Amino acid sequence: MTRDLDLVVFGATGFTGKLVADYIARSGDRPRWAIAGRNKDKLEALGLGVPILVADAQDRTALDAITTRTKVVCTTVGPYAKYGNELVAACTEAGTHYCDLAGEVQWMRRMIDTHDARARETGARIVHTCGFDSIPSDMGTWALQQEMIKTFGKPATKITALFGESSGAVSGGTVASGMETAREGGVDREVRRVLGNPYALDPDPHADLPPAPDESSIGWESHLKMFTVPFLMAGINTRVVRRAHALAGFPWGKGFVYREVMSAPGSVRGLVRAVAITGALGGLAFAMKRPKLRAQLAKRAPKPGEGPSPERRARGHWKVRLVGELEDRHLVYIAADEHGDPGYASTAKMLGESALCLARDPLTSPGGVTTPSVAMGQALLDRLRRAGLTFSVAG
Ligand SMILES: NC(=O)c1ccc[n+]([C@@H]2O[C@H](COP(=O)([O-])OP(=O)(O)OC[C@H]3O[C@@H](n4cnc5c(N)ncnc54)[C@H](OP(=O)(O)O)[C@@H]3O)[C@@H](O)[C@H]2O)c1
Repeated sequence: MTRDLDLVVFGATGFTGKLVADYIARSGDRPRWAIAGRNKDKLEALGLGVPILVADAQDRTALDAITTRTKVVCTTVGPYAKYGNELVAACTEAGTHYCDLAGEVQWMRRMIDTHDARARETGARIVHTCGFDSIPSDMGTWALQQEMIKTFGKPATKITALFGESSGAVSGGTVASGMETAREGGVDREVRRVLGNPYALDPDPHADLPPAPDESSIGWESHLKMFTVPFLMAGINTRVVRRAHALAGFPWGKGFVYREVMSAPGSVRGLVRAVAITGALGGLAFAMKRPKLRAQLAKRAPKPGEGPSPERRARGHWKVRLVGELEDRHLVYIAADEHGDPGYASTAKMLGESALCLARDPLTSPGGVTTPSVAMGQALLDRLRRAGLTFSVAG
């Protein structure tokens, strides 16, 4: 099959899609690319001067016409649990690589169950979570383990990722995706079961692996001397890191433990902050489980197409500290972006580089429903560093 395009950005009219399209347009890789979406006028108004492809997310015939002429589809059409099924199916059948910003664990589980085996046959790499969820966690853990092996001759048996210093805001699509997950969880016991399983995305979610409950209270990180509190996105990122480890054949041992928390300074002020964050998260979790309160939250939140201003995005930044432990030794690793808010400016770099990596780099990983580190490993790490992100041992 001949492919006249390297990559297509699907959803280029959306808040995040515009940022990703802009990132690709400025890329030194100069790919042969196109933008796609459901509204031709909106796509033309972007003025990018690249081919325009029109397809509704539910129109399989129109999606097939796109997926058969490109090597990669990069999609920001979300909530994925609402709009994502047909595109994953089309990419899988066409042997076309795919990357997205999904954070809906229950939907990713469905994609694994429905498409993983077929994608292995066609060679399509279906890579979810190529944004702030879950590249810092997945690539950070993978890169830290390479450093552990270099330094101590063995991988860490336990890694704790501490999400602390960051500044950003959310967009309408992100709110809609969170609401969709909460709605599904509210009406479907099986979805609640999936969301509550720490190994929900593993090839075998019921394998005999160590207990890995999500953090629910304030703790203390003794190497960094910081308070730890539950992290909202841990329920996504930890599942992705565990899937990556399982897909790689458990190279760090079946007893490997991955935890994810937020950090607060180890001072009295830090403790006050930790208590406030834990309380706020408890309140949010309570509200998200109740349809009426959820509707009130949705009214006050950004709507689809809306998100943080350019100034807010430019002021944004993020930093994750990953502590790798091996017996009585440890290594601290930093994943960070000082120039861009996590969810949008920085996510546009992460998703854009993932798409370019899938399109351009000589990867050897097999097809399947996979993760950024398993699909792209060192090639993506090199790209992210060149894009200005930090992945390095703490100095
Ligand atoms: N993991 C992360 O770090 C991260 C960060 C940012 C965003 N996200 C995720 O990315 C997704 C997008 O967020 P956003 O704020 O950019 O959303 P958004 O502004 O609402 O954009 C959604 C896009 O989807 C398109 N769309 C909606 N329904 C469609 C359909 N039936 N067929 C074709 N296209 C359709 C919209 O097209 P129109 O313009 O024609 O309406 C628009 O281009 C969300 O799922 C969000 O959770 C994740």
